[in-house]
Amino acid sequence: MTTTTEQATDPDILCHGLVRIFSTEGVEVQALQGLDLRVERGDVVAIVGASGSGKSTLLNILSGLDRPTGGSTVVAGTDIGTMSRAERVRYQRHTVGFVWQQTSRNLLPYLTAAENIAVPLVLAGAKARAERVDELVALLGIEHCRDRRPDQMSGGEQQRTAIAVALANSPRVLLADEPTGELDDATSADVLEALRSASESLGVTVLIVTHDPTVSEHVRRTVQIRDGRTSTEVLRPTERDDSGAEVHVAEEFAVLDRTGRLQLPEDFVTALDLRDRVRLALETDHVGVWPDGVRPGNNGATTTADTGTQTDPPGTAEPDRPVEQAASSRPSRRELRDRKEGEDG
Ligand SMILES: Nc1ncnc2c1ncn2[C@@H]1O[C@H](COP(=O)(O)OP(=O)(O)O)[C@@H](O)[C@H]1O
Ligand SMILES: [Mg+2]
Repeated sequence: MTTTTEQATDPDILCHGLVRIFSTEGVEVQALQGLDLRVERGDVVAIVGASGSGKSTLLNILSGLDRPTGGSTVVAGTDIGTMSRAERVRYQRHTVGFVWQQTSRNLLPYLTAAENIAVPLVLAGAKARAERVDELVALLGIEHCRDRRPDQMSGGEQQRTAIAVALANSPRVLLADEPTGELDDATSADVLEALRSASESLGVTVLIVTHDPTVSEHVRRTVQIRDGRTSTEVLRPTERDDSGAEVHVAEEFAVLDRTGRLQLPEDFVTALDLRDRVRLALETDHVGVWPDGVRPGNNGATTTADTGTQTDPPGTAEPDRPVEQAASSRPSRRELRDRKEGEDG
């Protein structure tokens, strides 16, 4: 078995420099261009990104349906780049569960919900199947659909049944590709909550892929994928205010890869008209980025990193503000434009 030695703290999904190139009729499409991703055990993470950004390609690789062109991917201790055919079958049956966007692709139309949930149990030769089906219909709140075929259920009920099917053999990781793509807003919220509570009660790691930006309201961590790479992340840690009520404070981070690359948010790039190359300067507590034509150190600023007394060029972040805070309260595009106009004039 292609299993790496596992520690309790190992993440459930770990991708390094993942590359997938499709070649069709001599044309190459780089769907994934060195993607890095780490998802901790039991976490619920959403991957968001525009259509064509590589989301499904990533999920197909993680589910063992497709093979990467390069890079490494370890899921629940299994190196999926080097699996044999038999290991792949076992991996798909026991390690990962999958929910597709098309409700019709998840369920067999001529079977009831209970029978659909029993299919993967039968294939895996599981015992105590009736008990497992009972547990799952209760967990997903679909007892009333037990004996209904998919065409007798709503879209949301079908997707909750699909989640039950995917969870039947107790996978470590649940992968869902646009699971709410065909649902209205209220039903989407329902299905996302079902995924979250399944993770909470079973400890399963959940990765949801979507182009719906509102998904971040339902998960603690949202990773943005742009042009086949993870670019930014939004974390929503739950904090308590003075009265003890739960408040969610969203913080945005840029993803830094192992070689030090990061992607600047698009509005930063446009606001300062950054292109081709930029100047960087290491400061005591942050890194400054300037357009090519602007020289850091003008206006009395020094850029020597060892004095600890340098000042910023006008318009940059206050020196003593932590990097993550600076990112979370990042200035609006308009503020940046105003600053730029101030400097130009
Ligand atoms: N089997 C394939 N053959 C050729 N190109 C593909 C194939 N699958 C995906 N692509 C291309 O890879 C890119 C990423 O696609 P995909 O992962 O489906 O994006 P998303 O799910 O984010 O919409 C797109 O440009 C798409 O056209
Ligand atoms: Mg897709």
